[in-house]
Amino acid sequence: MKLEANIIFKAKDENVKQFVQESSGDFATIFTDDTLQVVIKEVKEERQSLDKVRMIAGAIARELTMRKVRTAKISKAELNHAFFTLDDQKVIVAFVEGWHLGTYRFDTYKQKKEAAPTTLKFQGGLDPRSVQVGEVRAEAVAFSRDLMNEVPSVLNPETFPTILQEQFAETEVEVVVHDKKKLEEMEMNGILAVNRGSKYDPAFIELHYKGNPSKPLIALVGKGVTFDTGGISLKGSRDLSDMRMDMGGAAAVAGAMKLLADSKADVNVVGLIQTVENIPDRHSLLPGDIISFKNGHTVQVGNTDAEGRLILADGLIRAGELNADYVVDIATLTGAIVNALGPKLGGIFGAEDLMMELKQIGDENGDFVWPMPLVDEYEATLKSDYADFSNISNQGPGGSITAALFLRKFVPEKAKWIHVDMASVMDTKTKGYYSQSATGFGARLLADYAVHVSE
Ligand code: BES
Ligand code: ZN
Ligand code: ZN
Repeated sequence: MKLEANIIFKAKDENVKQFVQESSGDFATIFTDDTLQVVIKEVKEERQSLDKVRMIAGAIARELTMRKVRTAKISKAELNHAFFTLDDQKVIVAFVEGWHLGTYRFDTYKQKKEAAPTTLKFQGGLDPRSVQVGEVRAEAVAFSRDLMNEVPSVLNPETFPTILQEQFAETEVEVVVHDKKKLEEMEMNGILAVNRGSKYDPAFIELHYKGNPSKPLIALVGKGVTFDTGGISLKGSRDLSDMRMDMGGAAAVAGAMKLLADSKADVNVVGLIQTVENIPDRHSLLPGDIISFKNGHTVQVGNTDAEGRLILADGLIRAGELNADYVVDIATLTGAIVNALGPKLGGIFGAEDLMMELKQIGDENGDFVWPMPLVDEYEATLKSDYADFSNISNQGPGGSITAALFLRKFVPEKAKWIHVDMASVMDTKTKGYYSQSATGFGARLLADYAVHVSE
């Protein structure tokens, strides 16, 4: 067992060089004399990116933690030299962020806990703020991951508000919870309808952070379905455990609020979380039922499994009541986006200029997204026989687009709007700074976007 490790970039000894060349992956761990050396292989100019830095850092942190190494030393100068195409400070932030997330684990329910994470020590003059920023970012993402990974009997529509109240108790974030009675007064009929089968009461949670009240108001709207069985339109018999993560949008919003508050960001943001459980019961919402929304729209429920859009509609209406200038909604909304983009990219919808800005932010911070089209012609496929429209399209293909078109009908008129479908990126296998299951996607994306539009 080694208590210390050195992270180096160039293997000086010929034998070591040979070993490094032969080993697979981005780095090799080797013993020289009595010390454990971690040799990071050269990253070619064109492959250098901040996410590469995070991935390498995360993988090393996990490996050393597994080997029960107490501390690892790295030279700031060598790290910056190795990633010479990137900004020096950003590389440090990314390395620290990746390091902490690499040792993230959700082991609440394991009897045997893993060893304490290996501590990272920088050698050479370092701006401590970069380390702090990296830590704050990692903590926010870890918070989103914790919420997503939590089991559905522990995180449900009744406990979710309390969990957030506790999390934000000593912070600048004000938590306002609208309970079932209030939801009835507020005519949040999408939330009430979807939650009808649940033994828990639904809730609408508002997270207000006024870092600078004179800035444009940004509403972050998150889908918080603590378990999605499909409801009466029950999903198949495959393992549905992942559907505890159908509150990934809400987790992203909560993580973003934490990141903004912890970094004292100069923004004016409100997080709007709709939390429900979608489950079959004798009281459940039925296919064919009609929901009358507060803005006048009536919606025929073609499929109770298309529940996300029904609750987001209430969130979007609320964003309008609060006069939000920007509205970003985020949701594990459609299976179709998984097929369209695969596991590395979330889908985004909205005005082209806004999407390009958001994509650029994701490219830098690791929450990768790709612009998707809002095809006006498909809107007619949402037609209903006896309501204004249906919650499902009568055309099979393009399911992520028709879901986005449904949401567009509820977006406040004067607001700039982006919709993020994160169903494709909610979970992952262990790799780099990701560990099995929840990704914590969206916390960084939303927080950095809020900062960007407030500059
Ligand atoms: N929560 C699901 C979407 C989802 C699928 C998230 C896979 C993560 C992984 C959503 O509520 C849903 O069931 N959508 C349906 C919509 C359909 C009935 C129009 C879908 O995508 O199949
Ligand atoms: Zn569903
Ligand atoms: Zn869902």
